Amino acid sequence: MSSTSLMQDIQAAAAFIKKETNMTPQIGLILGSGLGVLADLIEQPIVIDYSRIPHFPVSTVEGHAGELVVGTIKGKQVLVMKGRFHAYEGYGAETVSFPVRVMKELGVETLIVTNAAGGINENFQVGDLMVISDHLNMTFRNPLIGPNDAALGVRFPDMSEAYSKRLRKLAHDVAATQDFKLQEGVYVGLLGPNYETPAEIRMFRTLGGDSVGMSTVPEVIVARHAGIEVLGFSCISNMASGILDQPLSHAEVMETTEKVKPKFLKLVLGIIEAL
Ligand code: 6GU
Repeated sequence: MSSTSLMQDIQAAAAFIKKETNMTPQIGLILGSGLGVLADLIEQPIVIDYSRIPHFPVSTVEGHAGELVVGTIKGKQVLVMKGRFHAYEGYGAETVSFPVRVMKELGVETLIVTNAAGGINENFQVGDLMVISDHLNMTFRNPLIGPNDAALGVRFPDMSEAYSKRLRKLAHDVAATQDFKLQEGVYVGLLGPNYETPAEIRMFRTLGGDSVGMSTVPEVIVARHAGIEVLGFSCISNMASGILDQPLSHAEVMETTEKVKPKFLKLVLGIIEAL
């Protein structure tokens, strides 16, 4: 896609959302598998099905609703993506991250990304929450490939603090008031859709990975390109392959996220309040 038409698509999508909501959210949230419940806590929500937004892709995965919800939480205007797009659905990295471009156009300055992820770090337990300190882009795809539109960001964006130190500290402070140990670590982003082999998990551990999933990386790259401050969380929904003597399943992932929901909701609400 040429950069002029990308810009036109972003503006068309943003204009539609603006017209439907008449709001100027500064906080964006992307909710991963099973974590969409946060959207239910939005006051005076305006719900827009992705299929109605010009140029928006449509998500196809079980447990992902495919709705944009705009409203207020703790007195702050938020824009929430209930359901996201994944490369394994067949979308390119620039399509997966297109909604982040639209958020920027709408005035979003802070992005909270969440995912369900496998635990690589053997000190983690199923049900832990991990604040993402950094990522390994093991998708070897990139949403910024192609001509760079300087209106969207620089050609060679800095990634030395992809996940804001300031917001990570805030997350730990909020977790401390809620009496639980917030883990912290490096998220390994993969294409999927198969889960990894035990050998791959050993490799990622050697490389410094703590959690593993099939999302988040393209959205964060675009957010940083756009100058949006990022806070990320992995919900450790299962231990990665080879750690426990059992197969991995989407059912287990959904089951754990169901159990972690209250803790996750409380943490994110606390953070939005503190922002
Ligand atoms: Cl173990 N791997 C990947 N790639 N994604 C996941 C996961 C594991 N658990 C939840 N999502």
